[in-house]
Amino acid sequence: MAKKPTINFVCQECGYDSPQWLGKCPECGAWNSMKEIRVQPLPQATGLGSPSWVGEDVKLQKLKDVAYQEKSRIQTNFQELNTVLGGGIVKGSLILIAGDPGVGKSTLLLQLGLELAGSGKKILYVSGEESVEQIKLRSDRIGKGGKKGTQGEDLYVLPLTDPDRIVTQIEDLRPDLVVIDSIQTLESPNASGLSGSVAQVRYGALRFVRTAKLLNIPIMLVGHVTKEGMVAGPMVLSHMVDTVLFLEGEKYTATRILRSLKNRFGPVDEVGIFLMDEAGMQEVRDPEQLFLQAERGKTPGSVLVATLEGSRAFLVEIQALAVYSKLPMPRRVVSGVDPRRVELLLAVLQKKCRLPLETMDIFVNVAGGIKLSDPGIDLGICLAVYSSIKNIDCSDVVGIAEVGLLGELRRIPSLEKRVREAKKLGLTKILTPDKYKTIQDVIVSIEKKGGYGNQKR
Ligand code: TYD
Ligand code: MG
Repeated sequence: MAKKPTINFVCQECGYDSPQWLGKCPECGAWNSMKEIRVQPLPQATGLGSPSWVGEDVKLQKLKDVAYQEKSRIQTNFQELNTVLGGGIVKGSLILIAGDPGVGKSTLLLQLGLELAGSGKKILYVSGEESVEQIKLRSDRIGKGGKKGTQGEDLYVLPLTDPDRIVTQIEDLRPDLVVIDSIQTLESPNASGLSGSVAQVRYGALRFVRTAKLLNIPIMLVGHVTKEGMVAGPMVLSHMVDTVLFLEGEKYTATRILRSLKNRFGPVDEVGIFLMDEAGMQEVRDPEQLFLQAERGKTPGSVLVATLEGSRAFLVEIQALAVYSKLPMPRRVVSGVDPRRVELLLAVLQKKCRLPLETMDIFVNVAGGIKLSDPGIDLGICLAVYSSIKNIDCSDVVGIAEVGLLGELRRIPSLEKRVREAKKLGLTKILTPDKYKTIQDVIVSIEKKGGYGNQKR
């Protein structure tokens, strides 16, 4: 006899489950986030059709008897993606690719699918967002699909949103890689709520975790992020998947950065750099090409920093503009770095270097549309502001240090690597905490020489 559905309350932020309504979620502390959901009793099925984890294939065994072999990985055509994943896509893993709508998740995954399909792999691209015609259009735009004889014609597309039916298709087709675009469009009659709700997302993700593990097929899920975070509680998903990748990029720039936030099979601090152009996403192997203009003029307000992303060091230009303000509260406009960090550095500059910052509007920007959270660029930011105020050219100075509240310069991780990178580009004015102890020291030395850029190298 079929059981009657029961009513449960689930927190829309974190997925916490309770039999009664609560004003505040005891798990994540969110107010008013509990929504009523109807829980359908799960059908009594076995095998992949069974929603329960416990099946006939589970047996009790001793850890020493467990045979382990290093999971083999699929190498993608994107070196950047391979690095971020820790050496390729691990078979049987569930990978979430999250990012703002329009940042290029579908484009990246379609390109990946087309390339892999072109090299003889069987790829299934499930799209609940776009029709197959739209996918075709996109693949033509990327320039890899469509015409006979070109790569990618073996890519399978499936416009489906029901996770159970998708799983059945995966079982039949046994592809080498599955892409599900996106988790927010999944809708199953076995879970309550509209597509995108915690219950639906959780149900779908659970289905794909099982499928990935049992069939040893890697599955990549696309997840959209809104201002408030993932539409349906990011925590629900990030607990369930093996890897969480985040694709980020500023709206009006072409630079895209792929970061790994969680990775059961690799490092979490690696980043991949891409450029979105007319033919899809292109990987950037040499970041300086992107962030440093070949011909930089000798203009006050520009300073170089050597930043570290993952295991790579590369140079980026910091630009600052300081102008006298007519406002009682002068403006601070910052992009590419944390505005609070800049406020703090301005306070240090004001106190230690006696600059009249309280009367100036200050604009700080990282050239090239990349976001930096590395403390090693502090000195560069200070120098850029200083250089703009004093109209002194520092455009081929590289500042590599964190600046403390007392104005002291601190050593940062991988200092030598960063210095090497700067030297490789032929730069010689490299300021590090080994040479200067405080920000005042740096400024005194620049003033003594009448500006760095005016010197002969
Ligand atoms: P898309 O991959 O659809 O984003 P997401 O899946 O993350 O929502 O990317 C859409 C944007 O990318 C859109 O603004 C158009 C742009 N685009 C290009 O610039 N070049 C291309 O080759 C393609 C396919 C898209
Ligand atoms: Mg998309």
